[in-house]
Amino acid sequence: MTPQEEIARLRRQLEDWNYAYYVLDAPEVPDAEYDRTFRRLQVLEREHPELVTPDSPTQRVGAEPLSQFGEVRHEVPMLSLDNAFSAEELRDFDRRVRERLGAGDEAVEYACEPKLDGVAVSLLYESGRLVRGATRGDGTTGEDITHNVRTVASVPLRLRGKGYPELLEVRGEIYLPREGFERINTEARERGEKIFVNPRNAAAGSLRQLDASITARRPLQMCCYSVGLFRGGEMPDRHSEILDRLHRWGLRLNPESKVVRGVEACEDYYQSLAERRDGLPYDIDGIVYKVNDLGAQQRLGFVSRAPRWAIARKFPAQEEATRVVAVEFQVGRTGAITPVARLEPVFVGGVTVSNATLHNFDEIARLGLQVGDRVIVRRAGDVIPQVVSVIAADRPADARAVQAPEVCPVCGSPVEREEEGAVLRCLGGLICQAQQKAAIRHFVSRRAMDIDGLGEKLVEQLVDRELVATVADLYRLPRESWLSLERMGEKSVDNLLAALEASKDTTLPRFIFALGIREVGEATANNLASHFGSWEALAAADEEALLEVPDVGPVVADHLRQFLDTRDNLAVVAALREAGVHWPDVARPPREQLPLDGQTWVVTGKLENLDRNAAKARLEALGARVAGSVSAKTHTVVAGPGAGSKLGKAEELGVPVIDEAAFLDLLAQHGAQP
Ligand code: IVH
Repeated sequence: MTPQEEIARLRRQLEDWNYAYYVLDAPEVPDAEYDRTFRRLQVLEREHPELVTPDSPTQRVGAEPLSQFGEVRHEVPMLSLDNAFSAEELRDFDRRVRERLGAGDEAVEYACEPKLDGVAVSLLYESGRLVRGATRGDGTTGEDITHNVRTVASVPLRLRGKGYPELLEVRGEIYLPREGFERINTEARERGEKIFVNPRNAAAGSLRQLDASITARRPLQMCCYSVGLFRGGEMPDRHSEILDRLHRWGLRLNPESKVVRGVEACEDYYQSLAERRDGLPYDIDGIVYKVNDLGAQQRLGFVSRAPRWAIARKFPAQEEATRVVAVEFQVGRTGAITPVARLEPVFVGGVTVSNATLHNFDEIARLGLQVGDRVIVRRAGDVIPQVVSVIAADRPADARAVQAPEVCPVCGSPVEREEEGAVLRCLGGLICQAQQKAAIRHFVSRRAMDIDGLGEKLVEQLVDRELVATVADLYRLPRESWLSLERMGEKSVDNLLAALEASKDTTLPRFIFALGIREVGEATANNLASHFGSWEALAAADEEALLEVPDVGPVVADHLRQFLDTRDNLAVVAALREAGVHWPDVARPPREQLPLDGQTWVVTGKLENLDRNAAKARLEALGARVAGSVSAKTHTVVAGPGAGSKLGKAEELGVPVIDEAAFLDLLAQHGAQP
């Protein structure tokens, strides 16, 4: 292929992908692949400048505006950023900056900011009032999305404080935190609706709604990172000072932003954020470095689509393409059969991935997935890898449709498709080895019976060798049998037997949770324990009595009754108690004597030691009501890291705020288990 031919081919490819991405909102390739192709084109064009044409994708800043929305012209163009994919490329950038500024070896001051993965927007404030919100569009012309940005809670409709210019255009990213994204997709999946490929795609889709009430229901957030127009006021001379001002005027910034000196410190910042990336509540796809001095920015200027004073250092991509080599079926604790895609191994989100969940059979239909297809796999944070879309154009001739199993792939028992919903379930119950393994894994887990040293491999062996079929068998297995297992020496067996012995002294909530009853998580187990006080009372409760428990609806009540009406299950419980598993009954003080009776609490942000549901259950057990939003009536807010608008609201209203440590102290004071 001549360079000319390759350039033409790359441009056509990029145009097609751009169209699918920006116009159809249906990305066809992972970003990483797009970036690689784009770079290849840039390299070729650099080598053959005579072949550069103004309509090349490299010469363009962004997307075409959608016609349904009014057009907005950006007086100051909204630029894009060049990328650096390695430490070396970042050093090259720094070297070029110093050369151009004539700075010699002097370290340049850089503002470092996480590169949020959302939608770039421009907000225009006239005399402090929000008058217009717009997308970036192609950089010069964007879409008018004023009615939608107005619904985003962290976008102030009016600036606070004093000293803002007559006309202020703020730029930043509107994005969906990961939790909100997962929630929207879970709900969409349950309703059989289209799901979003990633949080950015979801944010873009949410902002491009003609009906703003749909936007309003999406938990979008805004973080600001620069200004465009700044007229009728005094402009500071550093980027970081602009951000400080924006903050004072009530705009939200990313708390991770930091000013450093020199490229080595930039690299340190990158490394430290890369390590924490998975734990952040939102997706970032890299770090943006900006020369902090605005005068220096001016002198550096920009080339066609990007400034010379800024660069984005990219993280490993969270989406990559690979091939599905098979679809297999996993049987879970409650018999649910989950299709899993076996993949050609691919490096994505910082690890090598060779399996991805397909959720259920509807999902396979929705994706239109066949074995052999090339797909986009996404792995972000601690969420399990998922197949997010099929690259239909790459389907091989020998692709095969996925057949749902007619019997359980593990035990051969009949399967049932649940009435509403796409879940296929093995009816083998406790005779199914897959369900046995999953039940044991759950039973021994930290939040259940907390039996240390009984890992997945061991559970596999125990069940495969038919030494153990139910959780009660664990306590009956003689020492010799434990010793016969692979990698189990005297010492590990001693430790394990000690852990089993220690686990016998437990609590009623833990025990109920450990049984693995469908839909009975930790919070529900807690509520059941404090409501009934004893196992006997729970076992005897009819549906009506169960429905009186906070959080228990007809579905949970039904699962509980089914569990408690199954003789095999009761036999396991009896065998556990016979083996010595015991717990104290839970005292049930009359409602009005509960210490937090009549108080409304709010929990926000990320807690380290217990999840939000567990925190909620503990509070309810102490008599508090737990609300989703802060008002003047709120008694106390428990806030962990990453707490957002609720924390701000509490501070505004003077509602007391405590951190997790203080919360755990309080629980301990009231004798609730942490
Ligand atoms: S600065 C001239 N700062 O990245 C500088 N952009 O390709 C232009 N982005 O779509 C943008 N976080 O929306 C800047 N802290 C940050 C950013 C950021 C995310 C996005 C931006 C744009 C893309 C640039």
